[in-house]
Amino acid sequence: MMIKEALLTIFASGALMAAYGQNSNKPQVYNIAANQVKAHIQPTMYGIFFEDINMAADGGVYAELVKNRSFEFAMPLAAWTEQKKDGGAGTIEVINRSAERPENPHFIKVNVKSDGGYYGLANEGFRGMGITKDEEYSFSLYARQESENNVKLSVELHGADGAVIGTAELLPTGKEWKRYSVKFKATATIQKAQLYVWLSGKGIIDMDMISLFPEHTWKNRPGGLRADLVQKLADLKPGFLRFPGGCIVEGRELNNRYQWKKSIGDIDKRETIINRWNTEFKHRPAPDYYQTFGLGFMEYFLTAEDIGASPLPILNCGMACQFNTAEMVPLNDLDPYIQDALDLIEFANGDAGTKWGKLRTDLGHPAPFNLKMLGVGNEQWGEQYIERWKIFTKAIKDKYPNIKIVSSVGPDPDGEKFDLLNKTFRGLHADILDEHYYRAPKWFLDNAKRYDNYDRKGPKIFAGEYAAQSVATVSPDNKNNWDCALSEAAFMTGLERNADVVNMASYAPLFAHVEGWQWTPDLIWFDNLKSYGTPNYYVQQLFSINKGTDVVPLTRNNEAVTGQDGCYATASLDKNTNELIIKFVNSSATTQNVSFNISGSAGYQKQAVVTTLHSDRKDAENSLEKPTAVSPVQGTAVVNGNTLKMSVEPYSFKVVRLKNK
Ligand code: AHR
Repeated sequence: MMIKEALLTIFASGALMAAYGQNSNKPQVYNIAANQVKAHIQPTMYGIFFEDINMAADGGVYAELVKNRSFEFAMPLAAWTEQKKDGGAGTIEVINRSAERPENPHFIKVNVKSDGGYYGLANEGFRGMGITKDEEYSFSLYARQESENNVKLSVELHGADGAVIGTAELLPTGKEWKRYSVKFKATATIQKAQLYVWLSGKGIIDMDMISLFPEHTWKNRPGGLRADLVQKLADLKPGFLRFPGGCIVEGRELNNRYQWKKSIGDIDKRETIINRWNTEFKHRPAPDYYQTFGLGFMEYFLTAEDIGASPLPILNCGMACQFNTAEMVPLNDLDPYIQDALDLIEFANGDAGTKWGKLRTDLGHPAPFNLKMLGVGNEQWGEQYIERWKIFTKAIKDKYPNIKIVSSVGPDPDGEKFDLLNKTFRGLHADILDEHYYRAPKWFLDNAKRYDNYDRKGPKIFAGEYAAQSVATVSPDNKNNWDCALSEAAFMTGLERNADVVNMASYAPLFAHVEGWQWTPDLIWFDNLKSYGTPNYYVQQLFSINKGTDVVPLTRNNEAVTGQDGCYATASLDKNTNELIIKFVNSSATTQNVSFNISGSAGYQKQAVVTTLHSDRKDAENSLEKPTAVSPVQGTAVVNGNTLKMSVEPYSFKVVRLKNK
């Protein structure tokens, strides 16, 4: 965890009273009734939303370093360039064998025509390849020789200046396709390396799935995920992992929707398709953005399991993105889509005696993934969604009555689309409603009370995608600044206070490559070697690791704290650790002197632990150079019996943990 261990003693009960009252509001009493449980906080409360946007998967968390490894981009040689050295010569042809391999039609046929020298091709990687000194790398490919074993293969990693920082050799043999691999160490750390594949000796060789992976991945799984990025997710201790999106579930057209069955099994059989974010924003074109599905549903389930998160897949419900083509499957053709949902549940939970449970077992995971919930559609709306939702829901509930269904209430938290779905799904007793809000920071401050009057007996709420937008939704100028993060913290006190209604929440989007993004703000930014959590990341983390188990009332003048003097607060018990947890946000420019008077407890240990997230500047941001400019600082405060006094500096978020005696 990234909490700075600077031991700041937060003054309390008379100590440092000089500061108390300076440039500050008059002291305010906040009452906490520690014995009055108002709501149980679900273990799923704070989770993560993963979508392959901003090069989050290919070029990001999926650790493959070669871009267009299987020559399936619209321009089959995109990211590759022809290379010659020492008099080498030859030709490269792109061959299409679609009848034989519809899911992976292209390969290259290289005819080396020179007796001497080297002929071949280089790959640029995803904005280069991040290579680390002394780390091992695994190069692999599928190959076959046309005649004898004439053509030898060697690989080189080049640094930016052309220096060779790693080499290996291979001799593909025989006329049948076979996979070959070789490992080698890198001799330098380079952020933008390139891979050269050299061929020598006259002859013809066919090649496909040319790949380079670091050996060190998350849990060191071969062909796995970038360890530093998954660690950032694990550090959030998320209650759930929503995947694979987002609009990517829907596709711009139905034929590029996410189809989970095509994302599992051998990677050379997972069909590469265009990423829908490739063409979405004219101001952020990403013509080289494709989905290889190397990060597919098996990897999503495994990652969720690794980091202790409940899996939450979201499936296409027969509708392409309504912001784009809005293509729809006729109601009487929905069966294959519904079957995908039913089969997914069997894949996740079925035993080896079932078709899909057996496949999961064969893929190395005999134990079930314990899937409990499933999203039907992403950000859908209108009567057409309702019609499709009803058919899906009936089919799923008939076979799997215990699976909870997550239902979209559209892209906005209010307005006509929202009202129709909200009213309809409440009438239909939906399990969980997925609300999205990409709004200004002020909206988040104003909406800390949003759930106070929601029907306590109605569907549960999943705040499925949210992020404060410093400029405007989808503006490329949006920043992950402290102003946004602080407003989200204020809003989240309202989520937690209403934990009987709000069962899940996730910031969105999750990841962005600093050179490959389409959408901002994002929770975690990275380049080819490094990454950093935004101030928003630390807000999410502090809520998640301090969520507690049960909400108790925290009031000021008998009212919930929802913006009085710019303050927002919530309190919870952690029955596992026997602690009281207070979360307090001061969004104002004034120091707030607060006195927490706690009833219903036999008293607390003298020293409370206080974690502060703060910046004097609302426009403060973190960056690759200053990754922890705004990050948690840990200190202590003195508890006097059942009273705790603190000064809360302007623009700050504090989490206080008091241990019961
Ligand atoms: O998070 C980015 C996009 O915002 C998601 O794909 C979509 O669901 C929402 O509109």
